[in-house]
Amino acid sequence: MVSKKPETTDSQGPLHVSIIMDGNGRWAQERGLPRTEGHRRGVDNLHQILRSAFSHKLRYLTVYAFSSENWLRPKAEVDMLMRLLASSLKKYTKDLVEQKIRLHTIGRVEELPASVRKELDKAKRATADFTDYHFTIALNYGSRLEIVDAVKRYTAEVQSGNEAPENLNWETLSRYLDTRNLPDPDLFIRTSGELRTSNFLLMQSAYSEMYFTPTYWPDFGPERFAEAITAYQHRERRYGMTGEQVNPHSSLVYGF
Ligand code: IPE
Ligand code: IPE
Ligand code: MG
Repeated sequence: MVSKKPETTDSQGPLHVSIIMDGNGRWAQERGLPRTEGHRRGVDNLHQILRSAFSHKLRYLTVYAFSSENWLRPKAEVDMLMRLLASSLKKYTKDLVEQKIRLHTIGRVEELPASVRKELDKAKRATADFTDYHFTIALNYGSRLEIVDAVKRYTAEVQSGNEAPENLNWETLSRYLDTRNLPDPDLFIRTSGELRTSNFLLMQSAYSEMYFTPTYWPDFGPERFAEAITAYQHRERRYGMTGEQVNPHSSLVYGF
């Protein structure tokens, strides 16, 4: 049985949006450009989204920038992505500060190159005092790794006597996930037409509204983002209940 009724999101929009920013490579290839150009345009687009996404309602934005499986790509592409990451952090930290957006990461960042870790640390420090808007980048992130890491940390606490296995439930385990300080995503977007989650926030998206669009990430600008928010506002989130339970004024009442 579920112990706690989840918070129902109101029609004003999502509190937390997560995005799989996919399709950079194909965006470039279809234009006869190198994939690297697609990644650059992807970063530009993220910058545009960050300038307009946050509002009094939307306070958490989490993006998948590099998965734990993306190491399997050709070394030249991985190296380019790491350089782009470091230079983009350097370039855009002042914008985060100006907009009072706090930067976080999820994933095994300790395995990233030192140049990236240095820029991440600087950007996190520069934004550490902000409390309203939270921008999280998933880097070297994969849900399966995250679960394994969480179970290891939990087990260590059991061994030190700080946790009792008989009390284990989802609330407890989720305190060991990388996302422990984040609410679950309300809206989960994937660009580029792929209909899969590719190891992103698998547990956290259990009741997220999914939005798949064929648009490649570099073209998924603020207007497309606003369309996704509007689509979300027309969804009915039921969390296992009936439509009538979550919306007693619904005209769709079946005689049961
Ligand atoms: C997403 O775009 C960016 C990363 C995975 C780093 P892709 O590089 O996956 O672009 P496609 O899917 O090959 O078009
Ligand atoms: C997911 O996209 C990872 C990121 C967008 C960072 P991929 O392009 O790596 O996913 P698959 O391989 O198509 O599933
Ligand atoms: Mg892809």
